[in-house]
Amino acid sequence: MTHNRQWILRQRPLGAVTEQHLQLRSVQRAIPAAGEVLVRNIYLLVPPAMRLWMNPQDSYVPAQPLGETMMGITLGIVEASNDLALPVGTYVNGMGGCQEWFTATAAQLMPLAPHPQVPLAAYRSVLDVQGLTAWAGLHEVCQPQPGQTLVVTAAAGSVGSLVCQLGTQLGLHVVGIAGGADKCRWLRDECGIAATIDYKAEDVGARLDALCPNGIDRVFENVGGPVLDLLLERINDRARIALCGMVASYNGGGTQSAGALMRLVTKAARMEGFLVRDHFHRYAEVAAKLQALVLEDKLKYRIDILDGLAQLPVALDNLFHGRNLGVQLLRLSPERGA
Ligand SMILES: NC(=O)c1ccc[n+]([C@@H]2O[C@H](COP(=O)([O-])OP(=O)(O)OC[C@H]3O[C@@H](n4cnc5c(N)ncnc54)[C@H](OP(=O)(O)O)[C@@H]3O)[C@@H](O)[C@H]2O)c1
Repeated sequence: MTHNRQWILRQRPLGAVTEQHLQLRSVQRAIPAAGEVLVRNIYLLVPPAMRLWMNPQDSYVPAQPLGETMMGITLGIVEASNDLALPVGTYVNGMGGCQEWFTATAAQLMPLAPHPQVPLAAYRSVLDVQGLTAWAGLHEVCQPQPGQTLVVTAAAGSVGSLVCQLGTQLGLHVVGIAGGADKCRWLRDECGIAATIDYKAEDVGARLDALCPNGIDRVFENVGGPVLDLLLERINDRARIALCGMVASYNGGGTQSAGALMRLVTKAARMEGFLVRDHFHRYAEVAAKLQALVLEDKLKYRIDILDGLAQLPVALDNLFHGRNLGVQLLRLSPERGA
């Protein structure tokens, strides 16, 4: 047995992935070079992002080349070794590809020390990227406080279900949105999540109003579907929204903005609302700085003045047709004298 079966990307999908896009081929199994090991893949993670990798554009990783072994996140075991640091029998995580065997150096692999009472598969799921995603998105991005209301989409999924449970343990009021009664029941009965919404069978807006009577403080968004709009309509002041993924858009669906929002995810970019009223404590300091710049002729500005109170409709119309050049003011009376 020296062959290796592997999936290659034959054609880029436009919507859903079908058999025409992927091809299973059998090739000679690689022989580890000096300093390399041969790994037999045991588990291959199949995340929604795999669909993104197939697009012609780079995502958070370079686009998968056509005709090459499909990129894959794997857990395997070393079966032959030319590196004393990775003896035969070592379990390793790696980017082993959608294939049965691969060779790699120690620098490309992460050796595992599985706990005997934890299933091996957990080391390529809950205790791996999904766990870290849930943890980081919840703690670092959402920064929740006990008592706040957290809504999680794709809540019964690998990331979402962890977020729901970690949030509950932090003392949050967690509402999980998932597709189907079974998934919702599992979240409530097994995971101890206070409230769920089956978006496929229930009126999500009405259920959100009932389950989040004080609004929504934190959102952990995995989907990018119409539910996101319903959530945003209900957020409180200073809400925080972790954009983790837009799975509804990966096959070309989702809301119109989901694709653009996905750019925020893949660039780890931040889009943040703010109100000037929250910055008035710096008014005097900032006004003085700006005045200094004006006096030094280092700040250009234009003020567009119309004379007379009666010009209000004209001024308003100017604004919305771009006819104002700079700040639109109305002069109601002379600057000096009466
Ligand atoms: N930012 C990061 O670094 C990072 C890392 C890992 C994962 N992610 C993202 O996290 C999200 C969840 O990933 P996961 O690995 O945990 O997958 P998952 O939630 O276990 O599986 C995907 C789930 O998404 C839901 N879904 C799929 N298509 C949908 C659609 N059109 N509309 C609504 N829901 C849909 C389905 O659940 P229902 O049956 O409930 O609809 C499906 O089970 C994804 O967006 C993924 O890209 C991001």
